[in-house]
Amino acid sequence: MQPILTMENITKRFPGVIANDGVNFDLQAGEIHALVGENGAGKSTLMNVLFGLYQPEEGKIAYKGEELIINEPTQAIKLGIGMVHQHFKLVQPLTVTENIILGSEPTLGIKINKEKALKDVDELSKKYGLIIDPKAKIENITVGMQQRVEILKTLYRGADIIILDEPTAVLTPQEVKELFAILKGLTDQGKSIIFITHKLNEVMEIADRATVMRRGKTIGTVSTKETSPTQLAEMMVGRQVLLRVEKQEAKLGKEVLKVEGVSGNDDRNLQVVDNVSLSIRAGEILGIAGVEGNGQSELIEILTGLRKPTSGDIYLNDKKITGLTAREIKNSHVGYIPEDRHKRGLILDFSISENAILGIHQRKPFAKGMQLNLSEIKKHADNLIEKYDIRTPNREVHARNLSGGNQQKIIIARELEIDPVLIIASQPTRGVDIGAIEFIHKQIIEARDEGKAVLLVSAELQEILSLSDRIAVIYEGEIVDIIDAKEATEEKLGLLMAGVRN
Ligand SMILES: Nc1ncnc2c1ncn2[C@@H]1O[C@H](COP(=O)(O)OP(=O)(O)OP(=O)(O)O)[C@@H](O)[C@H]1O
Ligand SMILES: [Mg+2]
Repeated sequence: MQPILTMENITKRFPGVIANDGVNFDLQAGEIHALVGENGAGKSTLMNVLFGLYQPEEGKIAYKGEELIINEPTQAIKLGIGMVHQHFKLVQPLTVTENIILGSEPTLGIKINKEKALKDVDELSKKYGLIIDPKAKIENITVGMQQRVEILKTLYRGADIIILDEPTAVLTPQEVKELFAILKGLTDQGKSIIFITHKLNEVMEIADRATVMRRGKTIGTVSTKETSPTQLAEMMVGRQVLLRVEKQEAKLGKEVLKVEGVSGNDDRNLQVVDNVSLSIRAGEILGIAGVEGNGQSELIEILTGLRKPTSGDIYLNDKKITGLTAREIKNSHVGYIPEDRHKRGLILDFSISENAILGIHQRKPFAKGMQLNLSEIKKHADNLIEKYDIRTPNREVHARNLSGGNQQKIIIARELEIDPVLIIASQPTRGVDIGAIEFIHKQIIEARDEGKAVLLVSAELQEILSLSDRIAVIYEGEIVDIIDAKEATEEKLGLLMAGVRN
């Protein structure tokens, strides 16, 4: 069958990198085609080329049998190509409906025809099983809902091809299931989907074919019926990847973090953290398992000084830190890997060097009296780039111009390398490739073996299970149980996470 889309020999350069180096890609009508590859391999770039955001220096695009040049996103949209970006582009204070119709509002005279808009959106949402609350404001809905809004937005504009750039990175397992059902429904109605992901089990589950990219080049396209996660992993990184974590028995030291009866509210002033008590010793990893939205984000914000508790106390090495500011807590040698890298972890318009000392620039050796010690800062950045394999032409590149996974690696590198006594890691491997996950897991285990205390929050049960020494399960803001990781199974955790107590 003639593909609906072919991209041939696409080359796109940025200063110092060839992001796409003669890439070939084709899409069949009605298929789900996964695009996989390491961080910085060029996946987002290729899709940005297709969406008209970037102009390739070389190569041809043929769409529905016609060769064409896509100069800008508005043209791509007219052609029937829609894109849901790695970082959503919704307007927070506007409603779901307002966001969906933004830029293509139905009019009545010179006014926006609100009723028609609501009706259209309602019809679309029913037709494709994308259930949303049309009048809710974006800032008040979950990430999973926001994603549905993004998908509806592309459908509203008449998309036949929908590009999803790492759609599952920010979703809970339940939301992933729902998304997959939606995607199946879309292809049943003739839509074609390009799906970028780092999760090979997702590729195997949902995709018809997968194209693997590495360092700007296409390595190959395979049918998922004829491949395996191991083969895909090898195509991605060019070597065998250990999909398991190896670790020694924990050697516990003294208590580093003690949380006593901590409660707290969310932004809407509802209590979401309920009398939480826990403790972590040096050399120990405590994992927090829970369905997202059960208070873990707020608990972490309380522990890092970003949110005030309504009651309870927090001690770090026996010193009370309740109520200290985020800066003061960081200065007590607490490393923090936040779940939202754009909001809290990085300044996108700062260089890698600057981001690598964010929040710690006043420390030795980066500060020399009142001045910055530039040569030390440069050395530090180069070390991190090398050690954490941050794919970049050099340390002066702005964080904005790095691939998603490489942005994440800067934060992890910075926070692990400041010699913390306590590391609070929230979704540390979100958006990073399997090779990098292997590496980050090793670094976290190494930090533990050096006697650091680690608090790990992750939506990936497998990550919690393979890294933690003990696992605390949070449900509706309460720690319902703390179990030894050796006795934990996915089933047992799953039940506790659903609120079933034994
Ligand atoms: N606007 C830009 N300016 C400069 N360099 C860029 C720009 N966009 C991407 N790059 C570079 O192009 C390369 C490919 O990046 P791209 O974002 O396509 O990777 P990716 O495969 O999507 O990775 P990830 O899985 O981490 O999201 C990277 O080296 C990146 O730093
Ligand atoms: Mg990307």
